[in-house]
Formats: sequence, C-alpha cells, structure tokens
Amino acid sequence: MTNEYINFMVFLENTLATFYQRIKNLARLEGARAVLEFMEVHSFEHAKIIEETRERYPRPAVRESMISDFQNNLLNNVLKKISDEKDILTVLKVLADSEESIGKLYLSMSSLLKKLAGHYVSVANQIEEIAKQEFDHRDLLLKDRERISQKINSKS
Ligand SMILES: [Fe+2]
Repeated sequence: MTNEYINFMVFLENTLATFYQRIKNLARLEGARAVLEFMEVHSFEHAKIIEETRERYPRPAVRESMISDFQNNLLNNVLKKISDEKDILTVLKVLADSEESIGKLYLSMSSLLKKLAGHYVSVANQIEEIAKQEFDHRDLLLKDRERISQKINSKS
C-alpha cells in the first residue's frame, strides 16, 4: 500500500480551501463571510497538517524482495549443497542452519511489519483528529446558518 491517500486528502483540503476562498467574496454570501473565511483558513491548515504527517510519521520501507532473495539463496546454495551430500550429519546441520536463518528472516519481517503498523496507527490518529474538527466545522456552519436565519426572519 502506497501512501497516496495522503496526496488525495491534501488535494481535497486545498480544493475546498480554494473554493471557500472564492465564494467568501460573493455578494450574496456576504452575511456569512466570516465563517467562510474561517473555513478557508482551516481547510488550508488541514491540508498542511495532513501533508506534515509524512515527515512526522515516516513510513518504514519494506523491502519485500528480501524474501525472494532468501529463497534464491536457499535454492542455489543450500539445497544444491545437500542434494549430493553423503554425510547425514552434514545434511542435518545444513538444514538446521537454514531453518534458523528462515527464523531470523521472519523475525526481521515481523519487526518491520510492527513498525509499519505503528506508522499507520499514528497517521490514523491524526486523521481521526481532523475528522473531529470537520464535525466541529459542520456545527459552526449550522450555527451561522441559524444566526442568519433568525436575522432574516426578524426582518420579515
Ligand atoms: Fe478540513
């Protein structure tokens, strides 16, 4: 999984911010200018925060080829070495050694996956934080809508 979803989220927030930037100056939306400007600022800020997760929580590189490299080595060296080996003790020692190195390979793979999981948990927490702010922004817009609605009603 690449981290392209971050690009998409940054693009989404920037698009939204630019949209707010544009509509805040429309005469027909003048009454809501302050809240629209607030939304513009915070959407740009969201884009920035999301972009910064790349540096704050760098994604550990997973070199998946380490498994195929290992397999090539196993096929080319170990199995070839024992297929003509007459001494049973040598065969068993070579097999034991290769089991041990598979174990070590899996340990490093497992530790890498745990680091990767940690990376995704950190990014997920950050995104969850932003999600909460979106709900706050919804409420803010609704509050302003209510305020304007009352103003309109009081005139009529
Ligand atoms: Fe946002």
